[in-house]
Amino acid sequence: MNIAMLGSGFIARFYADTLHAQRRRDQITAVYSRNETNAKRFASDYGLNAYSTKMAKVIKDESIDAVIIALPNHLHEEAVMACAKYGKAVLCTKPLGRNASEAKRMLDAVEQAGVFAGYLEDLCYTPKFLKSVDSVQAGSLGRILWTKSREAHPGPHSDWFWDKDLSGGGAIIDLGCHCVEIGRNFIGKSVRPVEVMCWADTQVHPIEAEDHAIGLVRYENGAIGQFEVSWTFRGGMDLRDEVMGTEGTIWLNSFLRTGFDMFTTGKGGKYVAEKAESDSGWLFPVGDEAHELGYPHMFTDMFDAMEQGRAPLETFYDGYVVNAILDAALLSAKTKNWEKVILEDWRGKSDPRHEKSYASHDEKYYLIKKELLPNGDEKLILKDKITGEVKQETKRN
Ligand SMILES: NC(=O)c1ccc[n+]([C@@H]2O[C@H](COP(=O)([O-])OP(=O)(O)OC[C@H]3O[C@@H](n4cnc5c(N)ncnc54)[C@H](O)[C@@H]3O)[C@@H](O)[C@H]2O)c1
Repeated sequence: MNIAMLGSGFIARFYADTLHAQRRRDQITAVYSRNETNAKRFASDYGLNAYSTKMAKVIKDESIDAVIIALPNHLHEEAVMACAKYGKAVLCTKPLGRNASEAKRMLDAVEQAGVFAGYLEDLCYTPKFLKSVDSVQAGSLGRILWTKSREAHPGPHSDWFWDKDLSGGGAIIDLGCHCVEIGRNFIGKSVRPVEVMCWADTQVHPIEAEDHAIGLVRYENGAIGQFEVSWTFRGGMDLRDEVMGTEGTIWLNSFLRTGFDMFTTGKGGKYVAEKAESDSGWLFPVGDEAHELGYPHMFTDMFDAMEQGRAPLETFYDGYVVNAILDAALLSAKTKNWEKVILEDWRGKSDPRHEKSYASHDEKYYLIKKELLPNGDEKLILKDKITGEVKQETKRN
C-alpha cells in the first residue's frame, strides 16, 4: 500500500515508526501537515516522496491507496469526509468523533461512498489482548460478568487536548474510548450497551473538561464494563485490564509492569517510555513500545482486511458505539443518574434475557459454594430448589 499520513505529531510518528519498521511492505509515501516545516521534517525523517500543507491534495493523489488520520479530534470528520469524497480507504485514530453524532456522520459517509474504513483502536490489538479475547471467545472464562479497564497518566502532550471544544472532552473521551472498547471486546460486541453511570471531576488542572472519571457501562445481558480514566495519575502511564467470568479471570498489565524493571542513577538520560515521569531511580521501560501498544497487529489486520475484502476487527461502527457510550457517560456525570446509551443504529443482538444458569448439586439442591477448609473438612453450601432454604453440609476428612 501507498499510504498518506494526515498529521505529523505524536501519533503520526508512532504510526510511521510502526509502518517503516521490521521490513514492513506498506509504506507512507506522503504527509499532510498544516505547518510546512513539520511536514518537511516528517517527510525527511521517514524518507517520503511528498509533503504538503493542503489536506485534499495529499488525499486525492492517484498514487495513494489508503489515508491515515492522525489529526486532533475536531478534524477527524473533515478528513473522513474528504476521504469519502475522493473514494480513498481511510483509517482513523481514536476517538472516531467528539460525540456520537459526528461519528455517525463519518460512518454514514464511508458506507455511502463504499470505501474501506478502519478504526485505529490500538489497545484492542496488543498481543496479550488478542490472546485474552481468544480465550474469552473459546469459553475459558465462562460467562463474562465484569470487565475493568484503566488508563491513567499525568495528562496529554498538546494544547488542543485540553480545549474541550477541540477535543470533545477530557479524560473520558481521550482515554475512556480505549477502556470502553476493551470492555466491549470482552463482553461481546453483539451485546447491547444499555446505560451508563459515571462520576467525573476536574480535580487538578485549570480546564473546563474532567481530568478524572470512573464509569460503569451496563450491558443488556447483565454484564458490567467498568472504566477508570485519569489525567491526574502520577508515575507514568497505567494501562491495566481485568476480566471476570463464571469460570475464570484475566489480569493484564500493558505498560508499567511488563517484566522489565531498571534502576539508574540518571546517567544517560534517555527516553524511557510514553508519559514516563522520570529517567532515574527505578524505571519501567517498555521493550518495543509500538508492539506493546498494539500498532503492528493493528495495521496488519487493517491492510489484510482491505486486501481480503473483509471488515477489520475494529470498524467505524465500533467507533460510533464507543462514542455513544461516552456521550451517555458525560451526561451521567452531569445528571448523576444512569443515562441511556442512545444508538439509533444498533447492529448487534436484541435479546434482553440474562443467560443465568445455576449449578445443580442434585435434584433437590442448587450448589451455591464448595470450599475446602484449613482443617481438611469440605463444606457445601446448598439451596433448596423449591423452598429456597439455604443450608450447609460438612464432610469431615
Ligand atoms: N493510542 C492512540 O491510539 C493515540 C495516542 C495518541 C493520540 N491519538 C489520537 O491521535 C490524534 C492526534 O493526536 P496526537 O497525540 O498526535 O496530537 P499532536 O498534537 O501530537 O499532533 C497533532 C497533529 O495535528 C496537527 N494539527 C493540530 N491542530 C491542527 C489544525 N487546526 N489544523 C491542522 N493540523 C493541526 C499538529 O500540527 C500535529 O501534526 C488525536 O485524535 C488523538 O486522540 C491516539
